[in-house]
Amino acid sequence: MIKPFVFPEGETVRMRWPAHAGTEEQVTLYREAIKAMRCLSKDHPHSFKSQAKIHCAYCGGAYKEKYGSEIRIHNTWLYFPFHRWYLYFYERILGKLIGRPDFSLPYWNWDDPQGMEFPEIFLTQYINVYRDLIKDGGDTVSFFGGPYIANNPKEDTTNPSAGSVENGTHTAVHVWVGNSKFTSKEDMGHFYSAGYGPLFYVHHANVDRMWKLWKDLGKVYQDEFPGHVEPKDRDWLDASYLFYDENEELVRVSNRDTIHLDKLKYNYPEIPIGVLQWRTSRP
Ligand code: C2O
Repeated sequence: MIKPFVFPEGETVRMRWPAHAGTEEQVTLYREAIKAMRCLSKDHPHSFKSQAKIHCAYCGGAYKEKYGSEIRIHNTWLYFPFHRWYLYFYERILGKLIGRPDFSLPYWNWDDPQGMEFPEIFLTQYINVYRDLIKDGGDTVSFFGGPYIANNPKEDTTNPSAGSVENGTHTAVHVWVGNSKFTSKEDMGHFYSAGYGPLFYVHHANVDRMWKLWKDLGKVYQDEFPGHVEPKDRDWLDASYLFYDENEELVRVSNRDTIHLDKLKYNYPEIPIGVLQWRTSRP
């Protein structure tokens, strides 16, 4: 039976933390939780493998729409909300496995010099984030990706265009982390296998954070960024996905609930937008 989604009640906010600056406790809990997930039998909906396969199920080719187009969430405006939900449940499942309702995910803080870890990308990083959030992401469609209109009998509208972050920093990191010894750069370098790398979720937590930063920029500097608003079309608001929640129940979730971070009970540390170093670092 598929249940409708309800926002969690009375929980404290799970504050996600930068992977390079986790406390000893945060790091230990994260390791324990991943280990517990790896120990589940493979066909359990919470197993490492089942979780990884969720990405593949929605990445293209696994399911078809009514008129034959492939269902896919990349290269469309479903990209941000789908991944937000994916991590939302992944985080709650990990917490449940170790009995910690306050468990929160780390994010790979690649937009901060302290968090990059790999000197190779140091030089281009500000430029990329500036490019993805400001230069190329000035309006809803350029940031989120093109409209995906489900079950369109006239044309295949399931592969419109990728948003600035998806196309930019997001993909660059995937390809760069993927193992170049494998033809398709598995795990991280290919859709079907990306969910098998724990780093996938840590990378995507930061991608998810970019959505928050972009929105905050629009709130704080309304005149400068008038286009930083989420889609308002019904085709976006009502698009939905199925996930197993932390109680192993199948839940239907829709995009409209992804815009309420406060109600989802997780968040990222506030950084005063005025001090974001890359905001003014036009290349
Ligand atoms: Cu679903 Cu990083 O891609």
